[in-house]
Amino acid sequence: MKRIAIYPGSFDPITNGHLDIINRASKLFDEVIILVAYNKEKKARFSAEDRVSMIKESISKFKNVSVDSYSGLTMEYAKNKGAIALIRGIRVVSDFEYEWQLAAANEYVDPNIEMVFLMSHQETTFISSSTIDELYFNGVDISPLVPKVVLEFYKKINK
Ligand code: COA
Repeated sequence: MKRIAIYPGSFDPITNGHLDIINRASKLFDEVIILVAYNKEKKARFSAEDRVSMIKESISKFKNVSVDSYSGLTMEYAKNKGAIALIRGIRVVSDFEYEWQLAAANEYVDPNIEMVFLMSHQETTFISSSTIDELYFNGVDISPLVPKVVLEFYKKINK
């Protein structure tokens, strides 16, 4: 049986911090599906389609990683795919409380799918999608922090 894991998030946009988690998850599972999910608390900068495109290009070197999007419950998606785990990255202590609540809600929906938390590498702990966005629109070079394709998408919307 294939060991499938889902890595859900907003990915608005994907960053090198996310790629670090993807790289490590790809070694732990037979198949990793990155899921562009819907967070009702957030107003997205990029459409789900654009986020999927950016991710697709960023993960081309991984043989066992793919990307999808879904507007329903993440656990529902995971169950339909026969996944055994949901991956989440933890950067700093303040991530923990939010992740703990999300994990509890997910467990309530389906206790059979494990939550797996990977610690972000130190050099990526300050990166978040909204930080990237703020840096870019204030003229700071974000190229060391994101896959090349993300910069191309920013340039397109900033023409
Ligand atoms: N490197 C860089 N940044 C990281 C990171 C990493 N390793 N891990 C997390 N982040 C950042 C993200 O960029 C994001 O930054 P932002 O807040 O500036 O956008 C932030 O941390 C939050 O991470 P993300 O993984 O995108 O979480 P989210 O809160 O946006 O996503 C969902 C949560 C979408 C997975 C969740 O709401 C969901 O599953 N929604 C579908 C409905 C559902 O099932 N709800 C749960 C049950 S009620």
